[in-house]
Amino acid sequence: MTARRQIAAGNWKMHGCGADLVELAEIASAAKPLSGIVTLLCLPATLLDRARGRGVELGGEDCHAQPSGAHTGDISAQMLRDAGADFVIVGHSERRCDHGESDTDVAAKAMAAWDSGLIAIICIGETEEQYRAGRTEQVLAAQITGSVPDGATPENTVIAYEPVWAIGTGLTPDPEDIQKTHAAIRATLATQHAMGGKMSILYGGSVKPDNAKVIFASPDVDGGLVGGASLKAADFVPIMQALNASKGGNQ
Ligand code: 13P
Repeated sequence: MTARRQIAAGNWKMHGCGADLVELAEIASAAKPLSGIVTLLCLPATLLDRARGRGVELGGEDCHAQPSGAHTGDISAQMLRDAGADFVIVGHSERRCDHGESDTDVAAKAMAAWDSGLIAIICIGETEEQYRAGRTEQVLAAQITGSVPDGATPENTVIAYEPVWAIGTGLTPDPEDIQKTHAAIRATLATQHAMGGKMSILYGGSVKPDNAKVIFASPDVDGGLVGGASLKAADFVPIMQALNASKGGNQ
């Protein structure tokens, strides 16, 4: 039985120009000895080609569900692959909110990612209102049903659990709640997909150098999807190191 991938993933969102690749160089050099984890940066598409071959795995932040066509401003999974990506985030809450993406849209994007040989990082997460109403697990189960297509395997899919209310706010659930929610996600995946229980599940939402160790200590957390703290090597490297220290020996 192969161990689940442990991934320190950055999501640069709409940040970063060529000059910021100095951060990537520092991240890559720190990643070299961390053999137990995957260090991944999901970058604006404009940076991918310039970032390739520098020692970190690369991902896109979104892709279109179609392989090509008259879709001005959109980018296909194949284009991301061609530019050096091996992963792509789909269904991030900012896409679901800003662009009205539904679970069905997200599932179509995940399938498009697979068709181009990309690993889909499928994001799920409850809003603050849903959290307060105690509906987290129910909401996540519905998102998994709708967003994770048949054919999802631990090889082609990573799940990112990102509570919407924790993104960019400095708030996080208690570590016990993160573990409980990840275990519930894993159980749902296991009932819906043959190898679902073996998928890597990342936590995202205000992961910082000072809380990474506690978050990664949870047995069902297989890494982090990090926004703001992935933009600077000084913040992201300690997060990568915390993951490697916590899980690197599992590989
Ligand atoms: P922050 O780490 O900035 O809260 O962002 C999390 C996120 O949305 C990663 O995809």
